[in-house]
Order: sequence, then structure tokens, then C-alpha cells
Amino acid sequence: MKKNFAVLGHPISHSLSPRIHQHFANQFGIKIDYQAIDVDINNFSKTLSDLKDKGYEGLNITLPLKNLAYELCDHLSPKSQKTKSVNTISFVNNKIYGDTTDGLGLVKDLLKRGVILEGKKILIIGAGGASNGVMYDLVSQHPNSIFLTNRTISKSHQMMNDWMEFAMEKNVAIDIFDSNESISFDLIINATSSSLGAENVVFPKNLQGQFWYDMMYGKQTTFLSMAEKNKVKFCDGLGMLVEQAAAAFYIWHKEKPDTKPLYKIL
Ligand code: ATR
Repeated sequence: MKKNFAVLGHPISHSLSPRIHQHFANQFGIKIDYQAIDVDINNFSKTLSDLKDKGYEGLNITLPLKNLAYELCDHLSPKSQKTKSVNTISFVNNKIYGDTTDGLGLVKDLLKRGVILEGKKILIIGAGGASNGVMYDLVSQHPNSIFLTNRTISKSHQMMNDWMEFAMEKNVAIDIFDSNESISFDLIINATSSSLGAENVVFPKNLQGQFWYDMMYGKQTTFLSMAEKNKVKFCDGLGMLVEQAAAAFYIWHKEKPDTKPLYKIL
């Protein structure tokens, strides 16, 4: 019998998650049905309990529902508790378990690309759900320092306060990036939801970084165009998507899929 899974978000029609999970399941001969379901924020709570009652085994949660999912789960992983974000739900004994695999997806993709994080200087642009969602895993890689910046800088200060204790535990410095200073970063991560239209995008001027990573995928963003112009190494977030899916697959099926074939397919 097929096990039922789905990804929930809005908009969702272009989601690659059904193809990715179907491919992983085929690797192990596991029979799944994986749907993409468009759910707006007002219907999310009801949809969640409907799918639980229908016997679904798990869900992926994407924008803009990750924070609401965090609030609706009965049990949360330590990572979800810290990031206030849930992208993977498991239904077990009629209870809702929440976890997040975004940060692991990002870190795995970076390490696979040969980007070393330990001891390095990282800049994160953005202070919303996406940036907070990957902080736990980034800090856990023991970089030297993580600098934060955002169009609305007060949100970076809030983010710094929220993560200070955890960063200190791991001996990682956390600071606000003052764009008047000239700092050369090992890695710059774009975690904003800005994508196209250079005139609307507010980034610090004169960014200097060896590797530029955009957490978005499938779009030539302003950030990636800036990287191209600066002749530095860069990539979009497709690898993060595939790797976070692999980590979610492991939570549900306790199998580690081979992600390599997917890069060719997608
Ligand atoms: P997400 O869950 O995708 O992070 P979010 O929590 O709404 O969504 O956060 C969006 C982030 O992208 C914020 O850091 C936002 O900056 P503000 O806090 O100033 O709103 C950033 N962002 C959105 N549009 C942007 C733009 N055009 N230029 C720069 N930053 C932008």
C-alpha cells in the first residue's frame, strides 16, 4: 500500500518536492504518493488536521507556513524550537511532530561544494524566517563569526539577541555588519525574499566575499547578478532544496537517499 505525503505552501504549483521525493522513494522501492497542496495561511490548521485524519504519514511545509507550523505542532525537535521553524512534519500516534531540515540542507550543499565553514567569516543578508531557519546549523559548523545585515536593521539586532547565547556556547562570534566597514567575507548568503528587479532590492554596497550563495533557486536574482559581475564563485539554492529533502526523507523512512542523480534531472 502507498504511503501518503505532501508539500504544503502558497504558491506551490512549481514545487519540485514531489519529483524529488518520488525519485528518492524509487531508490528504495518504497511506494509513496506525494502531492503538492496549495494552502493559504488561514486554512492551514484545518488542512493539517484533515490530512492527519486521512492517514498521511508526513508533510513538508514551505513558504509562508513554516512559522505557523512551528506553532501548531504537538512536539518539536530542538532545532525547530530554536529556529521557530518547521519544514518537516511526521504524524505519529495521532500527534504532530515538527522538525526543520533547511539548515542541514544548506550546510550539506555548501560542504559538498567544498566551501569550508569552520573558522570562516560568514555574512547573512536577511533577518526573516529563512535566515533564522538556518542559523542553528550554521553556528554548529563553528565558523569564526557570523555577521548579520538586513534592509530593516532593527530585525538584525533582534536576530543577534535571539542567537547570542547559542553562538557563545559554540564559541562563534555574532555581530551586525556595518557596511561602512570594509570586511572581506569567506561566504555571503542571501536569505532575503528579494529576487528580481535590481531597483527594488536593498543590499549593502561594496559587498566583498569569496563565495556567494543564494538560498533561492531557479531565478537569476539580483544577488547572483552582483556575484557574476564581481567574478566570484556563486550558486543558487537548488542543492539546498535537494539536501533538505534528503534529510526529510531520512526522518520519515530512515533511509539516506543518493542525491547525486537529482542534480542531473533537475
Ligand atoms: P522569509 O521566510 O522568506 O525569510 P520573511 O520572514 O518575510 O520571509 O523575510 C523576508 C526577508 O527578506 C526580510 O529580511 C526582508 O527584509 P525586511 O526585514 O526589511 O522586510 C528581506 N527582503 C524582502 N524584500 C527585500 C528587498 N527588496 N530588498 C532587501 N531585502 C528584502
